[in-house]
Amino acid sequence: MKITVSAPGKVTLFGEHAVVYGKPALVSAIDRRLYVCMEERNDSCVKVSALDLEITGLVLTFKEGFKEYVVETDCDRIVEAMGYVRKAIEITSKHLDRKKGVNVSITSEMPVGAGLGTSAAIAVSTVAAYAKLAGHELKLEEIASLAHATELEVQGAASPMDTTISTFGGTIYLKPGKPKPHLENLNLEKALPIVVGHTEREARTGEILKRVRALRKACPRAVDSAMKTIGAIVEEAKPALVKGDFAALGMLMNMNHGQLEALGVSTRLLNDMVYSARSAGALGSKLTGAGGGGCVIALCPGKVKEVSVAMKVVGGMPFEASLSGCGVRIESMEP
Ligand code: MEV
Repeated sequence: MKITVSAPGKVTLFGEHAVVYGKPALVSAIDRRLYVCMEERNDSCVKVSALDLEITGLVLTFKEGFKEYVVETDCDRIVEAMGYVRKAIEITSKHLDRKKGVNVSITSEMPVGAGLGTSAAIAVSTVAAYAKLAGHELKLEEIASLAHATELEVQGAASPMDTTISTFGGTIYLKPGKPKPHLENLNLEKALPIVVGHTEREARTGEILKRVRALRKACPRAVDSAMKTIGAIVEEAKPALVKGDFAALGMLMNMNHGQLEALGVSTRLLNDMVYSARSAGALGSKLTGAGGGGCVIALCPGKVKEVSVAMKVVGGMPFEASLSGCGVRIESMEP
C-alpha cells in the first residue's frame, strides 16, 4: 500500500516563544503544504528521501580540468528534517504497538526549517501516514499529540502550537495546558493581507529555544516580564484579528516584535526586513517563528507590492501567503 498525506505550514501571528512558557498564541495555517508519501516495504527498514526541500546553500567546486568536484551543502538541515521522520515513526509504532518497514519521500511547497512550521508538518504527516499504513484511523487530537511528542524529543523543548495548527488548520487561539491545550477556532471577518519575507536561518529552533532558556535563567524577572507582555499582546490581538481591525493588529505586531527583539531572537536581516516593510507602508511587521533568521510577516493592506519590493531590496525573499483552513489530509491512497 502507498499513501500520500499532506499538512500545512503556518505563520505565528502573535505569541511565539512565550507560548513555550505557557502563554497563549495566535497562529494560522498557510496555503503552502508539505507532502509525505509512504509505501510499505517487505523488510523492517525505513528509507527516507527528500529531493525537493528547497534547502539552499549548495556550493559545488570543480577542481582543475573539471574532472573532480567537491560538494558543500547544509547537510545538517537535511539530517534534522529526517530526524523528525525517524522519531515520528518510532513514537507512532510504539503507540500502535506495530512496526513496519517503509519508504518515505518528502516534498515541500515552502522552504524547510525557515520558521514556517515545516518540522511540525513533517511530524504530523508522518504520524498520520504511518498509522494509516498500519491500518489505524487516528483521531486528529491523537495525531497532534504524537507529533508534539516528536517535536519535544527532537528539539528538547516545544509548545504544542506548531503541531496543533498543522493538524487542525485554520486560525487558532491556543493556550498550552494539561492534559491538552485549550484551543479556540477563530473565524476571521476579513482576509489578512500578509507578505512573508524569508532569509537564511543562522540557528535552528532547538538552539534558539536553549538560548532563551539561558537568558531566562540569567535574568528571570526581565524575561518573565517580556513573556507576560507578549501574553497581554495576544489577548488584545485576538478580538482585533476576528474583527479585522488592521490598524490595531499592526500596532500590536510591532509591539510583539519589540518583545522578541528583547528576548534576543531577532537578527540584523530580520530587523531590516521588519523596518523596511513598515517604511513601505505595512501597518505592522514582526518576525514569525523561532527567529535567528527565518521569516518575518508584514500586514500590508493595499501595499503588498511595495512591501515585497522593500523586503527584496534589503536582501529578503518575499512571498504572498494566504491563510488556509485545511489541516492534515490524505491526498491519495493506492493498494
Ligand atoms: C516555533 O515555530 C515557535 C516557538 O514558539 C517554539 C514552539 O512554540 O515550540 C519558538
